[in-house]
Amino acid sequence: MQDEYVSKDVQALKVFEWAAGAATLRMAYYGIKLGLFEAIVASPAGLTVEEMAERAPADPRYVLAWARTALAGELLRYDAASGRFTMAPYMDQLLLDDGDFQYMAGLATSSAVESRLADRIAECMRTGEGIPFAEYGHEMVESIHAFSKAAYELFLPSVLLPALPELSERLQSGGSILEIGCGAGAGLVALGRAFPECGVTGLDSDATSVGVARERIEAAGMAERVHAEEMRGEDLTSEDAFDFIYTQISLHEMDDARVVLANARRALKDNGVLLITEIRGPERIEECTGTYNAVLAHIDLFYEVPQAIAKGGHAVGFFSRAEIEAMAGEAGLRNVRELELDQPLYAAFVAGK
Ligand SMILES: C[S@@+](CC[C@H](N)C(=O)[O-])C[C@H]1O[C@@H](n2cnc3c(N)ncnc32)[C@H](O)[C@@H]1O
Repeated sequence: MQDEYVSKDVQALKVFEWAAGAATLRMAYYGIKLGLFEAIVASPAGLTVEEMAERAPADPRYVLAWARTALAGELLRYDAASGRFTMAPYMDQLLLDDGDFQYMAGLATSSAVESRLADRIAECMRTGEGIPFAEYGHEMVESIHAFSKAAYELFLPSVLLPALPELSERLQSGGSILEIGCGAGAGLVALGRAFPECGVTGLDSDATSVGVARERIEAAGMAERVHAEEMRGEDLTSEDAFDFIYTQISLHEMDDARVVLANARRALKDNGVLLITEIRGPERIEECTGTYNAVLAHIDLFYEVPQAIAKGGHAVGFFSRAEIEAMAGEAGLRNVRELELDQPLYAAFVAGK
């Protein structure tokens, strides 16, 4: 059916814009991976193609093609008089600074991971098969880490913990903390830093993630009181052991979130607190519009759904508020409530025993 308000030319331009966006994201990946951005940032006056090629190092013919595409995509700027390229405003922070709250290198990296798996994903879409998490590889672990490191280092200490003042005060004098789905360990280090008197344990079902987490803990000099274990949340058997249990954007990935919540309840001390964060997704299909939801729904397609199917888990993206409240209630958790947070990305829920 023809849409009387949209011309074919406008739609054709849209397709071209998709291709340009995809090309630019790929240039971001090469710029990061080959150290081209780092070389440019290290030279405030910018670099010529030959200088970039020498410093990366990389072949100058490829670097020229890369630089032209990155210029067109507005990742770089070019000064014709000197022949030098510099980073476009803020791109150094957005793509290189993993301490920046808006650090987005993970989008470029995960898109490269997806490209490697594209045929496999197409086949899975046809057959209904899944892809185990481990098959996404080390780079996917790093891209999840890139996505969520700032949440651990900025959002957790400056927004989430202040919303739980009693717990935060109690933990300053000691206690035990558990993170379920600790991924690459940035949360364990952040929690270890926020509560220097506490023991912190992380568990994750993925061996690669646990290996990276252990390296990170070691590098932070916290190995005596911060530990990462390869274990599923479903296999947690602790009782009355933890003052604080945290799970960041992981509950939806568990094999069985209901079992994990029941285990978390049993593992909490009587006055313990469970804090769950999930990405705030659209609650209804008709709300699935715009750039943010395109990115989010796409993550479901190439990552959440295949790996959920592979392990017989929840074949959906992030849990909605209603789902979390219902599951936490069924697991016997009490006083389940959503924290009111002045930001659009994360939803956070607290519950007690
Ligand atoms: C989206 S990642 C988030 C990782 C980390 N919390 C972060 O924010 O970077 C979800 C994590 O849950 C882990 N996971 C999936 N199923 C699990 C299970 N049944 N038990 C424990 N961890 C699990 C995955 O291995 C992955 O590291």
